[in-house]
Amino acid sequence: MGNSPGTNERSTHLPPVASASPPAAESGLTARGGGTALNAVSVIRSKRDGGELTDQQIDWVVDGFTRGIVADEQMSALAMAILLRGMTRRETARWTAAMIASGSRMDFTDLPRPTVDKHSTGGVGDKITLPLAPLVAACGAAVPQLSGRGLGHTGGTLDKLESIPGWRADVSVPRMREILADPAIGAVVCAAGAELAPADKRLYALRDVTGTVESIPLIASSIMSKKIAEGTAALVLDVKVGCGAFLKTLDEARELATAMVELGRDAGVRTVALLTAMDTPLGRTAGNALEVAESVEVLAGGGPADVVELTLTLAREMVEQAGLDVDPARVLADGRAMDHWHAMIRAQGGDPAAALPTARHTEIVRAESTGVLTRLDAMGVGLAAWRLGAGRARQGEAVQAGAGVEMHAKPGDTVVAGQPLLTLHTDTPDAFADALRSLAGTVTIETNPDGKPGELILDRIG
Ligand code: URA
Repeated sequence: MGNSPGTNERSTHLPPVASASPPAAESGLTARGGGTALNAVSVIRSKRDGGELTDQQIDWVVDGFTRGIVADEQMSALAMAILLRGMTRRETARWTAAMIASGSRMDFTDLPRPTVDKHSTGGVGDKITLPLAPLVAACGAAVPQLSGRGLGHTGGTLDKLESIPGWRADVSVPRMREILADPAIGAVVCAAGAELAPADKRLYALRDVTGTVESIPLIASSIMSKKIAEGTAALVLDVKVGCGAFLKTLDEARELATAMVELGRDAGVRTVALLTAMDTPLGRTAGNALEVAESVEVLAGGGPADVVELTLTLAREMVEQAGLDVDPARVLADGRAMDHWHAMIRAQGGDPAAALPTARHTEIVRAESTGVLTRLDAMGVGLAAWRLGAGRARQGEAVQAGAGVEMHAKPGDTVVAGQPLLTLHTDTPDAFADALRSLAGTVTIETNPDGKPGELILDRIG
């Protein structure tokens, strides 16, 4: 993954560290449910005052929001009340069911092989879906993986795969079934259609701009409504913890993981969760085509140790949940996972043999001292990759396929002053200054460190 011919390379060091609503609001929005008059303001007031919402209230408000009867400002107020007051397990399960009912639910029960999927809550350099989906398909499962595009410092799986010439994220449901049923392919990674939990799409966009993302019941129901509607029989969750994840502490991650495992099981989906570390980026790359290249290295039997470890750990969990008795390490080693990767990419129009795009400009960041690298902050690297053009600030923006950050050393490695630590890749060299600012203070080199890098797999729930 060095520089391609014609790349303009520069060399640099990092900069230094741097009360009750008025009655008028109730107008007209009422309905009858279970003999009780329902309206948005009464539902908001119930939750605002710490009450437990009834099943009718939840069904009515989610359905009303989907149909445009409950206004965005009312749903925003309710989301804030939920963030502040929480929801019980029963409320969260009902809220999830209502979000699923806002659209259609896929059904793969007639497929000849067991379905199993993985969901990650998102981290820097998290390319695990790319080697994992074909690996688990090669073990005999069908993997229907509906994925998203990246927003902010974490990359999106679809953005990564779209860097492969010809590859397309839109797959019709009938074609999805054909791919999943084909024993030579068995995995599909595609965009969720508009009919899958539409209430979640609208609510997530509102939460994003109203400071209401950080609610465990809302996050759990948002993720699980999409995964349950996707029709998978089993699910393995990878809940990221650390400075590069949106959950910073193990306690928060355990709470979210437990809520999601309960929601999955209540809905009849076999679900387990792993809590995994996200203080340091996964692997040695963060950026779309850079991460595809690293994933192909893993499928070819090489690749960074942490990416291989997490891929195999998640694959073992998925294979077990699918009821298969296969060792994923053998399937990776004997090339069957690579065969499925080629088939999976071709099934969605991509050319797995085509050269991946590279950025036109690079800049090398060098070590300022000699010692052991003890910290490489995932958030700093994620923000730098985003500034370089690998991610987007707003939904719908284009991303650069070749942009990102390549890491030449990881925590635990000995480095020598002046050696390359990072290579920054972009088509827009004006972005280097911003990326370098994001990286300020993200690297620590110590001469006599005490302790080793922490474990990658922190806990298992389920
Ligand atoms: N991802 C989701 O899909 N929903 C959330 O609420 C948070 C992360």
